[in-house]
Amino acid sequence: MSARLGVNVDHVATLRQARKLNYPDPVTAAAMAELAGAAQVTIHLREDRRHIQERDLKVLRETCQTLLNLEMAATQEMVKMAYEHKPDVVTLVPERREELTTEGGLDVNGQKDALSRVVKNLKDGDITVSMFVDPDIDQIKASHRISADRVELHTGRYCEARTEKDRSREYSRLIDAAKASTKLGMGCAAGHGLNYENVRPVARIAEIDELNIGHAIVARAVFVGFDRAVREMVELLRNP
Ligand code: PXP
Repeated sequence: MSARLGVNVDHVATLRQARKLNYPDPVTAAAMAELAGAAQVTIHLREDRRHIQERDLKVLRETCQTLLNLEMAATQEMVKMAYEHKPDVVTLVPERREELTTEGGLDVNGQKDALSRVVKNLKDGDITVSMFVDPDIDQIKASHRISADRVELHTGRYCEARTEKDRSREYSRLIDAAKASTKLGMGCAAGHGLNYENVRPVARIAEIDELNIGHAIVARAVFVGFDRAVREMVELLRNP
């Protein structure tokens, strides 16, 4: 079984927010992604609202035909938001205002009590909970201990590796972490920094059932169109 593609449409919203107009609409992009074979729509509603807005979450909840995955910080404000809009999946991510994008995974071990409360709250609301973590066995075990349903492995270090040796080490970490998470009964996704050149080896890891990809798809869409950009990625996942 190939991994399903979750298309992250944040950067369609980035383009819209650059002018604060009502286009291009990430909701339209999400519908096009689904028509092109995406199995999930992913959005990150950040505290500073730099791209996705609450309106996008609200409309996507009404229009999304596949699964809606909301990436969010583990705060009370965001838990309230999740209860209000009921995404299918919440992926808990670390968030710092000054970062360009999500840098590094959650320290589940270091914030066990707070994260455990948030996971319980969300699960009580029938929301599947995934933890965005580095491919680190301790973080996987900690996610399991606080009853997370899934983990999403941060692929940033694998994607940024400059030498074959570094890439191969990071790739092994992804494989080990994916195996550990499924052994513990958790589903396993991966994402961050994946593109048309580096995605294949990750898509070959049998334990990884989902890849969330945004920037590379939106960037390619500028030149080839959104439909084709998504289809090309779906094809890579089907034939890795
Ligand atoms: N998964 C998570 C948890 C993320 O935070 C992001 C970035 O928002 C992505 C996947 C997608 O990363 P990229 O835009 O680099 O494909």
